[in-house]
Amino acid sequence: MVFKSYYQWATLALAATAAAQTTTSCNPLKKTCPADTGLNKYRYNTDFTSGSLGRWNTTAGTVTSTDLGAKFTISEQGDAPTIESEFYIFFGHVDVKMRAANGTGIVSTWILESDDLDEIDWEQISTYDTEIQTDYFGKGNTTSYDRGTTVTVSTPEETFHTYSIDWTSERIEWLLDGEVVRTLEYADAVDGSNYPQTPMRIRIGIWAGGDPDNSEGTIEWAGGETDYTAAPFTMYVESVDIINYNPASAYKYTDKTGAYTSIKATNGTTATNLSTSNSSSIVASSKTSSSARASSSAYASASASASAAASSVGVVSAASASYYCSALTIAMVSLIAGVAQF
Ligand SMILES: *[C@@H]1O[C@H](CO)[C@@H](O)[C@H](O)[C@H]1NC(C)=O
Ligand SMILES: *[C@@H]1O[C@H](CO)[C@@H](O)[C@H](O)[C@H]1NC(C)=O
Ligand SMILES: *[C@@H]1O[C@H](CO)[C@@H](O)[C@H](O)[C@H]1NC(C)=O
Ligand SMILES: *[C@@H]1O[C@H](CO)[C@@H](O)[C@H](O)[C@H]1NC(C)=O
Ligand SMILES: *[C@@H]1O[C@H](CO)[C@@H](O)[C@H](O)[C@H]1NC(C)=O
Ligand SMILES: *[C@@H]1O[C@H](CO)[C@@H](O)[C@H](O)[C@H]1NC(C)=O
Repeated sequence: MVFKSYYQWATLALAATAAAQTTTSCNPLKKTCPADTGLNKYRYNTDFTSGSLGRWNTTAGTVTSTDLGAKFTISEQGDAPTIESEFYIFFGHVDVKMRAANGTGIVSTWILESDDLDEIDWEQISTYDTEIQTDYFGKGNTTSYDRGTTVTVSTPEETFHTYSIDWTSERIEWLLDGEVVRTLEYADAVDGSNYPQTPMRIRIGIWAGGDPDNSEGTIEWAGGETDYTAAPFTMYVESVDIINYNPASAYKYTDKTGAYTSIKATNGTTATNLSTSNSSSIVASSKTSSSARASSSAYASASASASAAASSVGVVSAASASYYCSALTIAMVSLIAGVAQF
């Protein structure tokens, strides 16, 4: 699994530089884990040209805010600068505006990843100048590597493009500059068992897939060995805009199924302006679930907040009865807050 080698690799890089940082990982399908910290608001945008990294933690290497955005540089073997959001989202929409790095075998990537290893990916390998890959994994299932697709993109190493993921309980869309380039339906992922559906963190990083110490398969996938004498290789991330369809302080796995219906969201966003809600129409549309399929073009339009928020209610309406009672309130309240914030 490609991202796995990325994290193993990043961990090795950390070990090599004797950084004391370690990631405590707890797989909720294997043991009882602490609840995930949620993004307890509808929107969170980061302008990485502002001088601050906002609510992002650097988990490997050094990442700085510059005029072009957050700067991720590989200067030498072992570098794999990475950041991750401090919080999780539970279904949502994420836009990452970035320019990929140059260099053979260098991978510029952003992913959504959960504690039980559900994952949704964008990966640009600089060796292939007009391509970017989409991929996903469910519950860490790596029995095959046939889920990836390749999307055509123009000059990703010279041009900032917006790479987005719109993720609901029904389907995932990958969007390039606002156009849907791939859709994965829930049922298409082994009847949902391989479908990414648990609270996710956003991770952004750059790594050398072509590092000579990597496995032959990884180097081949990366299009050849990285030549560090051509370094530095730099990726820039100008901004990340996040919408959390189910804002809450915390997400807890209530059993070991890894199903979205088993996730309990607690302490949702408080309504700030009830007068902007149109709850009757939203509840009605959630019953048909049609709102959850709100297209991404609709998303991009001025009515974005309503359709995006409605899909969170669609999610909740499909959930188990016990989840429904607490979460419906949360979702309703949060969409009201979300609409108000727009
Ligand atoms: C991120 O960094 C903050 C501040 O240093 C820290 O409190 C928090 O625990 C970190 N979060 C994660 C998920 O590592
Ligand atoms: C990558 O190389 C191209 C061509 O040399 C150059 O125009 C571009 O600025 C480089 N991009 C980065 C991120 O260094
Ligand atoms: C893992 O994924 C493969 C297809 O890629 C599928 O055949 C298999 O059933 C999956 N395993 C589980 C436990 O879902
Ligand atoms: C609920 O939210 C309040 C206010 O943000 C916070 O002080 C409290 O710790 C939260 N409780 C939980 C269980 O997350
Ligand atoms: C609530 O929303 C209404 C309608 O958009 C607006 O007129 C009003 O000023 C808002 N109130 C607050 C406290 O934000
Ligand atoms: C609320 O929803 C109803 C039913 O869909 C619609 O007719 C009405 O125009 C909506 N009102 C507002 C203020 O959006």
